[in-house]
Amino acid sequence: MVADSVPSLSVNLAPNYESGLLLTNPVMTASGTSGFGEDFSKITDVSGLGAFVTKTVTPKKRSGNPTPRTVETPSGMINSIGLPNPGIQGLLDQEAPHWESFGIPVIVSISGYSVDEFRYLASCLDGIEGVAGLEANFSCPNVDKGMEFATQADLLSEATTAIVESTSLPLIAKLSPNVTDMRPIAVAAQEAGAAALTIMNTIVGMKIDVIRRRPFIGGVTGGLSGPAIRPIGVRFVYQVYPEIDIPIVGAGGIRDSSDALEYIMAGASGIQVGTNNFVHPDTGLSIVAGLEKFLKSEEVSSVQEVVGIAHAEQY
Ligand code: FUM
Repeated sequence: MVADSVPSLSVNLAPNYESGLLLTNPVMTASGTSGFGEDFSKITDVSGLGAFVTKTVTPKKRSGNPTPRTVETPSGMINSIGLPNPGIQGLLDQEAPHWESFGIPVIVSISGYSVDEFRYLASCLDGIEGVAGLEANFSCPNVDKGMEFATQADLLSEATTAIVESTSLPLIAKLSPNVTDMRPIAVAAQEAGAAALTIMNTIVGMKIDVIRRRPFIGGVTGGLSGPAIRPIGVRFVYQVYPEIDIPIVGAGGIRDSSDALEYIMAGASGIQVGTNNFVHPDTGLSIVAGLEKFLKSEEVSSVQEVVGIAHAEQY
């Protein structure tokens, strides 16, 4: 690479789809950590990100789980929010009109109790202006049946097929770390037509309030996120990468460009920032700058050149 040239950060998260899903850089928000974007776009420049992933929407409005819904843990947090959202109609009426102004692809996270609900959501979002893709939340640990789809390959396959048949939007399947081996699930998602995979959602955990002698969180258990889980996420990405041909989006405990590069070198083409958005809403932007700096200093012309490089036999 010529010393002063700018390295390419661009990525196509749906190379198997005619439309593609083109991002100018690999850095996204993680669903549920920046709402539906309107407030978040007032505190950080979302246009500098690769894509915005919304909070999860369900067919009907939900008010969420009992409080307290979050608690800090060593190097992370537990949440049991329970997917509060305005329902698909509320989303289309109140939130979708803002998305065009973000200037980046918006990926809508969807969740249903059944294959039919996933199918319904995908058809509602098909052709909506400002929507570039879907992320199927097959892995929410905080609602009834929330993780069933990401822990049973046959169910995941059925839901993925139903979504893919109902929309031309590229589908990213968000998988769960609450399995022993993610590889068969990842392969099932690819075979059913997923454009890409997000690895991973949160890990089920809990905290006891020793004064009250009761579970701290209103929902009893919750999803552990933050830096504490990053080594687990990197491990899953590294294991799944050789088994599939579609892009992986890495998520779990990413705070800076070095954390992002761990996921990228393990095999992720894109990355998502979640918990750290609560600490520094500009985290995504600093990761974009950090990735560019790293590639320049290493004289690498494109981030794609380092995707999965940790698998190479020779340095
Ligand atoms: O409880 C929640 O809203 C979290 C959802 C998720 O982790 O998928």
